[in-house]
Amino acid sequence: MNMKLIELDNITFRYEKEEPAVLKDFSLAVAEGSCVIIEGDNGSGKTTLFRILTGLSFPEKGEYSFDGTNITREYMKDNANSKKFHKKIGYLFQSPDVMLFNPRVYDEIAFGPRQMGLSDQDVEARVADCLEMFNLRDLADKAPYHLSGGQKKRVALAAVLALNPDVMILDEPYAGLDKKTQEWLTQILIELKASGKTIIVATHSGELLSEAADEIIVMK
Ligand SMILES: Nc1ncnc2c1ncn2[C@@H]1O[C@H](COP(=O)(O)OP(=O)(O)OP(=O)(O)O)[C@@H](O)[C@H]1O
Ligand SMILES: [Mg+2]
Repeated sequence: MNMKLIELDNITFRYEKEEPAVLKDFSLAVAEGSCVIIEGDNGSGKTTLFRILTGLSFPEKGEYSFDGTNITREYMKDNANSKKFHKKIGYLFQSPDVMLFNPRVYDEIAFGPRQMGLSDQDVEARVADCLEMFNLRDLADKAPYHLSGGQKKRVALAAVLALNPDVMILDEPYAGLDKKTQEWLTQILIELKASGKTIIVATHSGELLSEAADEIIVMK
């Protein structure tokens, strides 16, 4: 059997003990290098699923395996483990406000690469690439919290990509973007996929990415 990069095996998750499960006996398998779209109504559990995939929440039942490793609360408690895991998997939160906390756009994008211990020169080169790619050069010295919603989203995406993760988990990346920027994002995602990245996108605009999608999963 072909091992998948990401495998959720019959997981069940609920936020509060007495509440009904948000995810019940849910399974998912994602092959390396594929692009999967997650659709579903508001409240169907897309963001919850992403919290589990990124190791922020843990199912009460079932297993999550990433690249052959079982991702459990115990495993993630070990700093070396969680660091290794987070290096491979990038997460764009549904709300960019949650992600942006640096004084300048430049520092926002440089934050991850600095954390990774890259040299100043390498950080600079990577940030310059991202600013260019996301058309953010003119905003580099601005405060992220003063930007418009769509600009914030672009900065948050650039900050995720600056880490160059193998897997990208993007929660509503198209929301709040104008048409031109949406089309531009689609091209970026197609290029990332072509370069071998694994991409999982929650969106209500799946049609924008149909060209790149290998699978569409609808949450119920
Ligand atoms: N922190 C939390 N505590 C308790 N319940 C929560 C929490 N976060 C989400 N929920 C509940 O879990 C369910 C799934 O929410 P989730 O955010 O995963 O949905 P979603 O598919 O991402 O929705 P949307 O399309 O609006 O982003 C909802 O019923 C929600 O009320
Ligand atoms: Mg959501």
